[in-house]
Amino acid sequence: MSLDMIPLHFKRRTFEHQLEEINQFVEKRKGNYYGMFHEKPFPLDVIKTLIHTAGTAPSGANQQPWTYVLVEDERLRECIGELARENERVQDILAAPYVVALMKQKHGEDKGQKIKHYYPNESCAISAGFFFSAIEQVGLRYKMMGRIKGLEEILGCPPKEEHFLLFGIGQDRETERIPVQELTRLSSSYYERMKKRRNIRDFSSEPVPAELIEKAISAIPTSSHYHFEWVSDDHRKQEIRNRAEAEEKKFYEERITEEWKDVLKPLGTNWQKEHITDAPHIIVPFKKRGSENDDISSFILTGIEVGVFLSAIHHGGLCSLTHTPSPMTFIRDCLERPKQEMPIVLLPIGYPKEDCVVPNIHKKPINEILVIL
Ligand SMILES: Cc1cc2nc3c(=O)[nH]c(=O)nc-3n(C[C@H](O)[C@H](O)[C@H](O)COP(=O)(O)O)c2cc1C
Repeated sequence: MSLDMIPLHFKRRTFEHQLEEINQFVEKRKGNYYGMFHEKPFPLDVIKTLIHTAGTAPSGANQQPWTYVLVEDERLRECIGELARENERVQDILAAPYVVALMKQKHGEDKGQKIKHYYPNESCAISAGFFFSAIEQVGLRYKMMGRIKGLEEILGCPPKEEHFLLFGIGQDRETERIPVQELTRLSSSYYERMKKRRNIRDFSSEPVPAELIEKAISAIPTSSHYHFEWVSDDHRKQEIRNRAEAEEKKFYEERITEEWKDVLKPLGTNWQKEHITDAPHIIVPFKKRGSENDDISSFILTGIEVGVFLSAIHHGGLCSLTHTPSPMTFIRDCLERPKQEMPIVLLPIGYPKEDCVVPNIHKKPINEILVIL
């Protein structure tokens, strides 16, 4: 079967323009929100567009294992409040004009058959990072918390879905309200921009100024939950590539299942990983084990910041590949990181080759990822 590939249509910008765009992205990041929301909501269409943007995120084998449930029904909100009575954060979230539950799909389905999902936790966390970035970039605020056990039953979700994150979204009561038309315009133009992002596998070896990477990394707040390692040294990249290819060769020749082969077919991937040495920079996000835990685990928080970082990179006119050589522990040894850290993905960053093509695959339409109750 020949692969269905399409041109990337990459638009090259000047260095000044790239830096300016990442700068603006970073400036609008305000981190977690502890204030109060304005009571009166803005139109539902804005929330829909923000969720649509979350759906443009990369996912393992493009399976998009997420459903966003927008809880409008007052009675359901009360039930959520009852379920998590002891949790102050949930009461805060329920005070927001919009409440959204992100559900992870534990598996897919095709004609009644279960389809295994690959990297659903990483994919959902990255999608959440795209969602939060979209919320922040249009000038709205959010509050977030981790899984509430039993929420699936209250919301009547299908058995394949498990609650992943809950968030409240609104306008900051302390700042001037953003006019409705402006919110609608900003959210649409942000969606249009993000939907152009694609993972690439053909990197040019053209250098990328370190300043751009530095700026994009500054979008991620420092935290005890994760560490982002930046690699540009050719020897290190070559070592990572050699070891990744050794693992991937074993995977593609011995470990891969027929089902996995099928889902990877449209992507045309194999054990060769030129992108690791072609791309001028690699970022490796590590989650830290043993850091003090709040209700959201380090793993999810790391994945969310990967989503934010990828959004910043896209704004800066750069491309990346969300890559998971499996298993990934060797990267920790190559980079001499402590035992309590574990890489969750490997992110080569650079410009695409002149004739770069990408698989002709699609994102789910909004009615397949959004449920309104
Ligand atoms: C958690 C995760 C793991 C991934 N692992 C790989 C990988 O190992 N190799 C690869 O070529 N692409 C990998 N991808 C990229 C996906 O295949 C890609 O995001 C998906 O096909 C959708 O394409 P797009 O990102 O261009 O929209 C991964 C993506 C995610 C989110």
